[in-house]
Amino acid sequence: RRKIIIDTDPGQDDAAAIMLAFASPAELDVLGLCAVAGNVPLSYTSRNLRIVCELCGRQDAAIYEGARKPTLRPQVTAEHVHGRTGLDGAELPEPMMPVRSTHAVDFIVETLRSEPVGTVTLCTLGPLTNVALALQKAPDIAPRVRELVMMGGGFFEGGNITPAAEFNIYVDPEAAKAVFASGIPIVMMPLDVTHKLLTTKARVGKIAALGTRPAQVLVDWLAFFERFDIEKYGSDGGPLHDPTVIAYLLKPELFSGRDCNVEIETRSELTAGMTVVDWWRVSGRKPNAKVMRDVDADGFFALLTERVGRL
Ligand code: BDR
Ligand code: CA
Repeated sequence: RRKIIIDTDPGQDDAAAIMLAFASPAELDVLGLCAVAGNVPLSYTSRNLRIVCELCGRQDAAIYEGARKPTLRPQVTAEHVHGRTGLDGAELPEPMMPVRSTHAVDFIVETLRSEPVGTVTLCTLGPLTNVALALQKAPDIAPRVRELVMMGGGFFEGGNITPAAEFNIYVDPEAAKAVFASGIPIVMMPLDVTHKLLTTKARVGKIAALGTRPAQVLVDWLAFFERFDIEKYGSDGGPLHDPTVIAYLLKPELFSGRDCNVEIETRSELTAGMTVVDWWRVSGRKPNAKVMRDVDADGFFALLTERVGRL
């Protein structure tokens, strides 16, 4: 059973990732969930995180609030995709479960120091602010992390918030830079993978057919989330980004990629937050991440659907 910490800015696709994790208790032990500012301000991401935990019947989950803004830059949010609350699409009661009093950054540091070396995996579904602050505060934690699996970046596929940058990296490029320089073994799920995971009518129809309340709420969230891409690009559904991180822990064979060097652009105005992936190994710089490029999309949706049916 793999011990994980989920760092997230829910987000409908973050919600799908958290549901997948809670639906997989035989494989994953969720030690705690950290909210970070991202898609919407922290007050909403923290609320949304509690909504998702309650939907999964996990009022006992340990939730921590982290950074209210990026390490250096003014905050950028994505209400145009996720709606005013970040989790628009389903009417749910305001959550009752508490947030723990420890700051998310301290939770990350304390957990990595108290658990045996190489046993805790960090799963990041939003900007990397909390993890970067933890590394800054306690550099000794880096060699203790088993692996950091992130949704972030894009290379041949380009960006989704600027032509060059993917949202999670763009929001806090300095944080991403620190994480890629940390020596932590990184697995990166870029847009090159997630843009192959469209929530088509056929795929979402199978989730709806489960007939359970969590499945129906997920379908309602996805309907809201995908309208942005459907209206803008005319695609059959939208890309389901964040659950790739959890799916990788459950079934790594769904994904393929290679070890590459990744550097983060922080100085340019035009390309800030760009993930410069040395796919062809032309730089001579040492690989610092396993960069994924392909996914078995039907296998991914089969896994998600089967697991959500267990909730
Ligand atoms: C990422 O940005 C957010 O809008 C999504 O939740 C995902 O984490 C995709 O670029
Ligand atoms: Ca996210």
